[in-house]
Amino acid sequence: MSSNNMIIGFIGLVLLACCCPSKVEAAHQQLQVGYYRSTCFPAELIVRNEVFKAFQANKGIAPGLVRLHFHDCFVRGCDGSVLIDSTPGNTAEKDSPANFPSLRGDEVVDAIKDALERICPGVVSCADILAFAARDSLAITGGIIYDVPAGRKDGTVSLISETIDIPPPTFDVNQLTQSFDRKGLTQEEMVTLSGVHTIGRSHCTSFRDRLYNFSSSVKQDPSLDAAYAEQLKLSCPEANNDPNLVVPMNTRSPIVADVGYFVDVSNHRGLFTSDQALLTNQATADQVTRNARNPFLWNNKLKAAMVKMGKIGVLTGDDGEIRLNCRIPN
Ligand code: HEM
Ligand SMILES: *[C@@H]1O[C@H](CO)[C@@H](O)[C@H](O)[C@H]1NC(C)=O
Repeated sequence: MSSNNMIIGFIGLVLLACCCPSKVEAAHQQLQVGYYRSTCFPAELIVRNEVFKAFQANKGIAPGLVRLHFHDCFVRGCDGSVLIDSTPGNTAEKDSPANFPSLRGDEVVDAIKDALERICPGVVSCADILAFAARDSLAITGGIIYDVPAGRKDGTVSLISETIDIPPPTFDVNQLTQSFDRKGLTQEEMVTLSGVHTIGRSHCTSFRDRLYNFSSSVKQDPSLDAAYAEQLKLSCPEANNDPNLVVPMNTRSPIVADVGYFVDVSNHRGLFTSDQALLTNQATADQVTRNARNPFLWNNKLKAAMVKMGKIGVLTGDDGEIRLNCRIPN
C-alpha cells in the first residue's frame, strides 16, 4: 500500500468514526447479562415460569428447547430463524428433514412470547427467548445454572437450504470438528456440547442404519454395544418403518442432564454414529473419559460453551428486529 493510500484510508476511518457514530456503535454492540433489566424487568422470570409450566406437563419440552436454540444458532446465527413458519413462497428451516418432525418446543416459545407481549410489548426478541429457555431447561434437568448475555435481535429470513449447516448424526469426528469450527467453536466445545445428548429422545430414523444397514458386508455397526443394539431393535423393528418411532437417549436417565452421555459413549452405547465417533480420535476420546468421571468439569465447560454458542452470528443494535410473533417476521 502506498503512503498516499494509507493516508486516504486513515482519513476514511476518521470520517467513518466521526460521521456515523451510531453505525460504528451498532457494529460493536455486545450481548449483555441483564439486558432487559430496565426495559422489561420480569422478562427472564416470565420465560422461566413458562418453561417450568410446560416442563411439568411434558418433560420432553426441556430437551426440545435446548435443541431449538442449537439449531437456531447453527443456521444464520442465533436470530430466531428456526421459529419462522414456511409460507407459500418459501420453505423455512423448520420444514427441513433436519428439523421436521423431530424438533419440538415451538408452541412453548409461542406461549412465552404471548406472556411477554402482554407485559412488555415489542421488547424481548424471539432469539433471546430461545437462549433463556435453553438455559432454564438445563437448570431444570441438571441444576446447571448460568447467566445468559442477551440483546439479540430477530432475523427476517429462514431458508430450508441453509439447514445444511446442521450436522447430521452420520458425521465422523473430522466432519463434526469442521462443522463446529465453521461456527467458531472448538473441537473440545463440540465434545462438551454433544454431552447435551444426555437428555431427550431420538427417532429411530436417525440411527436405523446402524442396526440394519451398516455396510454392504456388515448389517450391524460393530462399534455399537451388542446388548444395546438388541434393546434398540425392540423399539425400532426392522419390519416397522414408522417414522414416528422414538427411543430415549441416555437410557438410564433421559430427563437428567448429567454426564450419563459420556458414560454411554465410553461403553459403546452412544446412539448416533456422531456420538460413538468421539471415541475414534485420541483427543476427543480423552475428553469423553474425563467428562464421564468429572461432572463438575463438564458442567463448567458446558456453561461456557452454551454462552459461546449463543453468540454465533447474532444481530444486535440496529440490525434485525423484535419480532411480534415468533413465527412471522414483522
Ligand atoms: C455434535 C453434533 C450433533 C449431532 C450430529 C446431533 C444430532 C441429533 C439428532 C439426530 C437428534 C435426534 C433427533 C430425532 O431424531 O428426534 C438429536 C437430538 C438432540 N440433540 Fe443433538 N446433535 C448434535 C449436537 C447437539 C448440540 C450441540 C446440542 C445442544 C447443545 C444438542 C441437543 C440435542 C437434544 C437436547 C436432543 C433431544 C431433542 C428432543 O428430545 O426433542 N445436540 N441430536
Ligand atoms: C442402506 O444404506 C445405503 C447407503 O447408505 C442407502 O443408499 C440405502 O437406501 C439403505 N437401505 C435401506 C433399506 O435403508
